[in-house]
Amino acid sequence: MNRPAGHRPLRSFVRREGRMTTGQQRALERLWPAYGVDLPEGPLDLAALFGRAAPCVLDIGFGNGETLVAMAAADPDRNYLGVEVHRPGVGHCLLDAEEAEVNNLRVVVADAVEVMSRHLPPESLAAIHIYFPDPWPKKRHHKRRLIQRSFLELAADRLEPGGLLHLATDWKDYAEWMSGLLEDDDRFINTAAPHRYLPDPPPRPETKFERRGLRRGHQVFDLIYQRMP
Ligand SMILES: C[S@@+](CC[C@H](N)C(=O)[O-])C[C@H]1O[C@@H](n2cnc3c(N)ncnc32)[C@H](O)[C@@H]1O
Repeated sequence: MNRPAGHRPLRSFVRREGRMTTGQQRALERLWPAYGVDLPEGPLDLAALFGRAAPCVLDIGFGNGETLVAMAAADPDRNYLGVEVHRPGVGHCLLDAEEAEVNNLRVVVADAVEVMSRHLPPESLAAIHIYFPDPWPKKRHHKRRLIQRSFLELAADRLEPGGLLHLATDWKDYAEWMSGLLEDDDRFINTAAPHRYLPDPPPRPETKFERRGLRRGHQVFDLIYQRMP
């Protein structure tokens, strides 16, 4: 993504490490060699990373990883790459991955925008999942939202033709924001119908943040857009 030289990028997250349990810390150390990705200088070789060439799904901001692990376990023919900045969540995810005995999952601890722009080749992704991204509800913080025109530019480039961008949120205002940007973008087509959200139930397991939203009485919106060939 092009930014003025020397200008610190505005991030979609605030790094608050939170408390890491001893179990999560130990899991990170013990399981990192099996699941963790140490980023190279340049692009990742996804086939080498997973030990096979297969369609790759990118999950951005997987939180504690329960949904990511469940999806990887249910879909063994595809590779799942999770990117998260919150290390306690990554520790939790690795414990779940070990228990589920998945071997089609790898995780990166980094800003997903950096990973996509610097380490993922064009047309390398079959799908991008972004479930319950931080909503940044205050107007003055909207510029921190992950989904922006510039992000869609990057996503369109990294998705293979026909690849899917799956977004979910329990913030109506963010759902309308995403829908507005995507409906305006002729590289993407709405798999539901123009200006529509996906009908219930969505084709994914429930997530931790989704449960929290539902407990607060929020409605959930899923959007799946296809990258035009
Ligand atoms: C509201 S939580 C949702 C977690 C999970 N997807 C769920 O539904 O339970 C959003 C997550 O996105 C992560 N995140 C936000 N911006 C990110 C970025 N640019 N790169 C990687 N992770 C990011 C945050 O650390 C946080 O864990």
